[in-house]
Amino acid sequence: MIRLGVLASGGGTNLQALLDACGTHRIDAEVALVLSNLPGAGALERASRAGVATACLPSKGVVDRAAYDGAVVDLLHQARVDLVCLAGYMRLVTPGFLRAYGPTAATRGCPRVVNIHPALLPAFPGLHGPRQALAAGVKVAGCTVHFVDEGTDTGPIIAQAAVPVLDGDTEASLAARILEQEHRLYPQAVQWIAEGRLSLEGRTVRLDRATAPGERLRSPAVELA
Ligand code: GRF
Repeated sequence: MIRLGVLASGGGTNLQALLDACGTHRIDAEVALVLSNLPGAGALERASRAGVATACLPSKGVVDRAAYDGAVVDLLHQARVDLVCLAGYMRLVTPGFLRAYGPTAATRGCPRVVNIHPALLPAFPGLHGPRQALAAGVKVAGCTVHFVDEGTDTGPIIAQAAVPVLDGDTEASLAARILEQEHRLYPQAVQWIAEGRLSLEGRTVRLDRATAPGERLRSPAVELA
């Protein structure tokens, strides 16, 4: 059973998906700490409702990003967090943070910080993935779970789910279609990590073959909705 630290700045529907998956044992993990940089973030409320420890370190006006992240890492260590899940966390993490949660012998090259992004990376990194997808006129959009590196949404890709872009889609309707897939994909990716089935070779994330009887072999690369 691994311990998750979830970092969120917003409403926390992805946090909720992780909490629910832990609660129903779809993932062998527990959420040990939910941390936000924004007081009043809906994610904190969701965590409290689930009886999970919360912390808030307001980031407004912070100039020393390394010191701020040092404080975040201290809290994660105190909560004995094994894996950090960014879930709508509106800050870039610093190199010190990534070193603190870098690969270990047990993780087979995989860093210990993951993120969910509402676009099919490497297209449309940064803010407003669905808006960028609509503006570009793409016919397929989706979401990506990836390991976090120092760039903005540039880390090795663990899993992706695709959705169609439909005539008449608005940013809100496309974002909602993508979000539904996020809630499915993020717990799945976290479970692969909890099972120790992922390894990293260069930029390629590999998923060990499923061994459980009857388990369907899934590609970590693409899951078409
Ligand atoms: C999601 O779209 C996620 O992909 C992005 O931020 C949004 C967070 O939504 N990183 P929520 O707070 O989990 O509802």
